[in-house]
Amino acid sequence: MLDAQGALRAEPGEGGAGPAAAGGALDGAVVLDALGEAEGPPFLPDGFDVVRAALRAGARRLYVAREAGRGLRAAGVDGLVRSAAREYPDSVVRCVVLDAGAAPGPEGAAEALLEEVAEGGGEPVVVRTPAGRFAPVLVEAPLGPLAGRGAGPAGEGAAEAEALGLDRDAVLVVAGGARGITARCVAVLAAAARCRVELLGRTPVPAGPEDPLTAAAADRAALRGVLARTGRYGSPADVERAAGLVLAGREVAAALDAVRAAGGRARYRSVDCRDAAAVLQAVKEIHAEHGRIDGVVHAAGIVEDRLIADKSPESFRRVHGTKTQSAAALLAAVEQLPEGERPRFAVLFGSIAAVLGNRGQSDYAAANDALEAYGAAWAARTGRRALTVHWGPWAPSPVHGGMVVPELARHYARRGVRLIDPEEGAAALLRELAWGDPAERAVVLTASQW
Ligand SMILES: NC(=O)c1ccc[n+]([C@@H]2O[C@H](COP(=O)([O-])OP(=O)(O)OC[C@H]3O[C@@H](n4cnc5c(N)ncnc54)[C@H](OP(=O)(O)O)[C@@H]3O)[C@@H](O)[C@H]2O)c1
Repeated sequence: MLDAQGALRAEPGEGGAGPAAAGGALDGAVVLDALGEAEGPPFLPDGFDVVRAALRAGARRLYVAREAGRGLRAAGVDGLVRSAAREYPDSVVRCVVLDAGAAPGPEGAAEALLEEVAEGGGEPVVVRTPAGRFAPVLVEAPLGPLAGRGAGPAGEGAAEAEALGLDRDAVLVVAGGARGITARCVAVLAAAARCRVELLGRTPVPAGPEDPLTAAAADRAALRGVLARTGRYGSPADVERAAGLVLAGREVAAALDAVRAAGGRARYRSVDCRDAAAVLQAVKEIHAEHGRIDGVVHAAGIVEDRLIADKSPESFRRVHGTKTQSAAALLAAVEQLPEGERPRFAVLFGSIAAVLGNRGQSDYAAANDALEAYGAAWAARTGRRALTVHWGPWAPSPVHGGMVVPELARHYARRGVRLIDPEEGAAALLRELAWGDPAERAVVLTASQW
């Protein structure tokens, strides 16, 4: 049907060159590769090459079709498209979500897509259902009256921990939990439950007290100076890397200290969470040692912000894979535990960028959006609760700065975007887990939209 309208085909396998190869200058493109078997091979990350090629070839209209539902096949497509739409405001960039009831079979899909092509601009994601054509919107959803029973915003969270069934013997496994905003959340969880936390991250396990040579250097600038003067490093980039490692080691040590000071017990393991075998081994060891894993949190993530036009496929894969491969590895690892001993809940740290899109974060938005699908699939397989928390930006704090570096914080301030207060953010997570609807698969927790 699309052929009959004069569309040219770019077959799968033509990769990044596909759309351009189809006819030189490009008026528009309809990407069909994310359609099909909900649990088939995911469209992303490889599909990024097709989207990038179409936009680079000057497409003024780009439609990516996917089926309704949260299958892995189209995981992350909405987040990618929302970000692309922000980067190409003069083009129509849209994800068309097709409900089988509204658009049955290939004919129905083609008809729906032709209607979309005839539409003007508008929302980056539209859902076509038998009841009509909708654009998803964020709806404020306060917690129910039970939430008032908790300890309150700055309270200790004991009521929440109890509601979650987390006692002193409970064990939480937290990927990416020894640094950044997650370290703050871990400290609050540990204070609330006095439980055991097992933290995973790539930073090497701190080997005793810090070298006196660097210990006196309070910040990155001072560290750079001290390290450069040793003459051990060949280039400024080497010095920068070494300073980063020292700071990361300090964060890990501070995270462990905070848990212990709060009355919990903490251990840190150096694991690249994209490595499924290493994650499985860590999970097996933790379970063997303590006989239980009550909950898991996946918060590992990186950013390499760049506009789509300048983003390399390798960078897209790194950012995307850190979230999605790590999620898949952790969820699969705990699924291997005996059925009655699997964690009761899994929390995945996503981002508001997935829900609203963000310039320069196509990879990150896609990855965070995809987490919902990974969590939902795991929940469906195991009958356990999975919740993706799409965070708004957090205010940086001195030890655990997180992704919102001071320069970015100033940028948000100029745009009028408010940042999450770290104490309130951690308490909000606890309240959401304790009093939120366990059937909910994703929420946005933010101080402000953008
Ligand atoms: N800060 C915010 O405002 C904000 C907003 C929305 C969402 N989030 C989400 O919250 C999470 C934490 O962000 P953050 O701001 O705290 O950033 P961060 O300080 O950079 O923390 C990222 C964490 O991920 C770990 N990590 C990265 N790659 C890993 C890998 N391959 N294997 C294991 N661990 C890995 C890091 O530890 P190592 O470096 O030691 O590996 C670190 O603990 C992320 O998932 C992020 O997307 C943050």
